[in-house]
Amino acid sequence: MITTVTLNVAVDKAYVIGDFYQGGVMRVQRCTNTPGGKGLNVAKVAKLCGEDVLAAGFVGGYSGAYVVEMLNEQDVPNEFVRTQNETRSCINVLAADGTSTEFLEPGAEVSEKEVEEFMTKFSEIIDKSDVITISGSIPKGVSANIYRKMVEEAKLKNKPVLLDTSGKPLQEGIKANPTLIKPNSDEIRALLGNSINNREELIESGKKLQRSGIEYVVISLGSDGAIVITDEHVYHGKPPKINTVNTVGCGDSMVAGFAVGIQRGYSIEEMIKFAVSVSSANALTMETGYFEEHHRKKLFDKVKVTVIE
Ligand SMILES: Nc1ncnc2c1ncn2[C@@H]1O[C@H](COP(=O)(O)OP(=O)(O)OP(=O)(O)O)[C@@H](O)[C@H]1O
Ligand SMILES: [Mg+2]
Repeated sequence: MITTVTLNVAVDKAYVIGDFYQGGVMRVQRCTNTPGGKGLNVAKVAKLCGEDVLAAGFVGGYSGAYVVEMLNEQDVPNEFVRTQNETRSCINVLAADGTSTEFLEPGAEVSEKEVEEFMTKFSEIIDKSDVITISGSIPKGVSANIYRKMVEEAKLKNKPVLLDTSGKPLQEGIKANPTLIKPNSDEIRALLGNSINNREELIESGKKLQRSGIEYVVISLGSDGAIVITDEHVYHGKPPKINTVNTVGCGDSMVAGFAVGIQRGYSIEEMIKFAVSVSSANALTMETGYFEEHHRKKLFDKVKVTVIE
């Protein structure tokens, strides 16, 4: 079973409107609500791949109950810690001119007691999981070293743990040597605080991280696929050129692809091909954290994995 952790869950609201006027009153023509948060995308995609999943993290109040209801409707098993404060909403306003304007609530504060409750639950969840993924930002009230503690705990129990976050939580989290990290090029630049100017420098930075004890360092490069660094080789997995529909959630889909690959014991080449095909297939549909199997299969045959070093 693949467990996906999302500490900063949201109700994602997409508002379809006509024209957008700053300071004006706009009627929403269509509103769709979906369970949001990067780890929930990972859960949805890993489930679509055919694996057993469990979504964990915090949800709170009525909106948290709503997220759980939506996940249940989609048959995504979940075990959340309930918080006193309401789960946030994130609003994406899609205007007629094709622009998209996002409003992301920061996420209400989680109490110390709720964090403790989560850590106890997480420990139990690790025991019944084969692979764990940790994604996204952390809500207010949660210490920046929580991912580090979670990675330590998973590793202590010999469970592969994939960490996909940014900023301080990533900086702290990597100290516990997660099995895999998947920064994009912005995230790796922010992490290493240096200016990376070309592919060679990107690879060198990734190698440093790999040598510090991270088994797989995956640097995702959007349409150019991903560089994967292991203790043996540096690989480049490249998807074919595609006409994208919506690339939101591609990174999460890639994390799901690697989690599935690890769960199934794929060889490294197979795993890269699989993760690249799943993530690029996600770009071929409007829905976030979703792909069509026929797209994935076609892409799988066209993904090129080369050994760079
Ligand atoms: N335009 C694209 N064409 C083909 N594949 C893509 C495209 N964009 C993303 N992908 C696939 O998705 C993977 C992850 O994408 P990306 O590097 O954009 O992740 P990210 O920045 O973490 O995204 P997210 O917004 O989900 O956090 C890429 O390595 C690639 O396989
Ligand atoms: Mg990402």
